[in-house]
Amino acid sequence: MKVLVTGGAGFIGGHIARDLLKRGHEVFVVDNMRTGDERNLIGIKNFYNLDLGKDNLDEIFKNDFDLIYHFAGQSSVEISYQDPVYDLDTNTKSTLRILKHLSDSNFKCHIIYASSMSVYGGSEPMPKSENDDLKGQNFYAIGKKASESYLSIYSSMKNINYTSVRLFNIYGPGQNLKNLSQGMLSIYLAQALESNQIIVKGSLKRTRDFVHIFDVLNFLRKIENNQSCFNQSINICSGIETSVQELLDEIISEIGKEIKIIQQEKTSGDINRMLGCTKKLESLTGLSTKINIKQGIKTMIDAINQNKYFE
Ligand SMILES: NC(=O)c1ccc[n+]([C@@H]2O[C@H](COP(=O)([O-])OP(=O)(O)OC[C@H]3O[C@@H](n4cnc5c(N)ncnc54)[C@H](O)[C@@H]3O)[C@@H](O)[C@H]2O)c1
Repeated sequence: MKVLVTGGAGFIGGHIARDLLKRGHEVFVVDNMRTGDERNLIGIKNFYNLDLGKDNLDEIFKNDFDLIYHFAGQSSVEISYQDPVYDLDTNTKSTLRILKHLSDSNFKCHIIYASSMSVYGGSEPMPKSENDDLKGQNFYAIGKKASESYLSIYSSMKNINYTSVRLFNIYGPGQNLKNLSQGMLSIYLAQALESNQIIVKGSLKRTRDFVHIFDVLNFLRKIENNQSCFNQSINICSGIETSVQELLDEIISEIGKEIKIIQQEKTSGDINRMLGCTKKLESLTGLSTKINIKQGIKTMIDAINQNKYFE
């Protein structure tokens, strides 16, 4: 297949692009390198250093892609408050501009979009399933909800199939440990590795649903060409709720040194609780997650110790 991966220099997009290459597909990547890492571009012959929110995209869409993984975007609620206009451009306008190009072209394409659990908001009841109301009220969630709506409307008008994958907290080797604005687990792990303290913004009782990147890849491979996944939203979650305190305990026990926890005020728009329902994901893919938090943290520490970056 001819596949475009937007955000292919980033954490999740980088893993997707490598996985596609390994499976023999022709891979194209577009990334503005805002949070991307050049190591993710090794082996990528077709790379466009462009911003999907504002640059001319004609050159990219001369290609008749079979599949697009649209994973470019900024993934931090905190940054969506610091720079809401960039958040809108990069997470919503980028989606709309891709859809406009696809609708003007003649090829039939499946687009898999990186939506987020934040579309649900953090209110009860839990776990969140795909038919629940979308009550996410922070700037980041609004952008993801809007992108999902654009995909749905375009698919009903044009020759476009989409799947919005609602990613919960994705983590694993290759996550950017220098970026302390995105990725709860990677933010705490980076601090624990670099110092003897971890700063936690908000309550230790907050919960999240963590999914290891290798499990994510297994799910995506099953979704890619599966027509029963077309034109709908699917959670990518583990169905396991982990508190910040439990997460910190696992990180500290894996690292094996004494670490002080310093609590600070919570970030604007942060949610208290999150847990996903896995029913739809499991019935469509026949899979469930295999890697638990303890094993997952170990994969990250092992990759760092062996200087392997993403394995
Ligand atoms: N990591 C998670 O837990 C998580 C959870 C829910 C949703 N998501 C979504 O998944 C996607 C990937 O997240 P990630 O964790 O890999 O983040 P990342 O920052 O590692 O990767 C995003 C990539 O997109 C690129 N990018 C950003 N804006 C762009 C633009 N306007 N044009 C071109 N390239 C652009 C960045 O340079 C980066 O390489 C994002 O859309 C994010 O919102 C991630």
